[in-house]
Amino acid sequence: MARLSVNVDHVATLRQARGIDEPDPVWASILAEKAGADGIIVHLREDRRHIQDRDLEVLRQVVKGDLNMEMAATDEMIGIAGRVGPDLCTLVPEKRQELTTEGGLDVAGNLESMRAAVAALRQAGIRVSLFIDPTSEQIKAAHQVEAQIVELHTGSYCNAPDEESRLKLLGALEDSARLASRLGLKVAAGHGLNLRNVHPLLAMPEIEEYSIGHSIIARAVFVGLEQAVGEMLALVRTAASNRPSEPVQRRL
Ligand code: PXP
Repeated sequence: MARLSVNVDHVATLRQARGIDEPDPVWASILAEKAGADGIIVHLREDRRHIQDRDLEVLRQVVKGDLNMEMAATDEMIGIAGRVGPDLCTLVPEKRQELTTEGGLDVAGNLESMRAAVAALRQAGIRVSLFIDPTSEQIKAAHQVEAQIVELHTGSYCNAPDEESRLKLLGALEDSARLASRLGLKVAAGHGLNLRNVHPLLAMPEIEEYSIGHSIIARAVFVGLEQAVGEMLALVRTAASNRPSEPVQRRL
């Protein structure tokens, strides 16, 4: 059965806008899990613009499903992860000026440093996911550096300017999911997914997990977090994880 992990960074963004103690991403995580989310994701950024060290520490104590710490592959973050012990870490590229994570990691271009980061986290008993663009080069590199999971960056697909490029990007996601799965990697997908654009991805049986933040938190403003998580979860649970796959172009 496909899984849904909810990113609660935006709750912390709202809190930081006032510099006070509400809304609390810990409370949001408890509600998301109560609504059935399989995991909670937080991105501890170098600049601490939303999630704080305290959030990660308290979440480690209260999250019952998988706690996924998104982070840059820096010594500081690897040290924090080793101390706090999330269930998994998703390594992402991080730029100070970006609004959100903009592109996938260049694993192929940084094999040695990636291999070292993956090894350090795995030695600490943490599963490692690499957030990469859907290309065969990056998937093979993720396999080479011994990551256990790849999270395919769906942002380009979600922002495709027209139908032709949308289909092309879906094809790339599908080919990538298959290749990763053949190499023994677990496959997740995320960035920009919402109730409208997630459907074609749900039909890709290799994708075992969806990482979704913005659209769920945005919808929660109007309908509440439990309902927003529940609506997405209802879609994710229809994912064809055990069906034989056929090319996405034929299904559309
Ligand atoms: N996966 C990764 C690696 C991300 O950096 C983000 C954004 O924080 C997401 C998933 C969730 O993306 P969105 O907030 O657009 O759903």
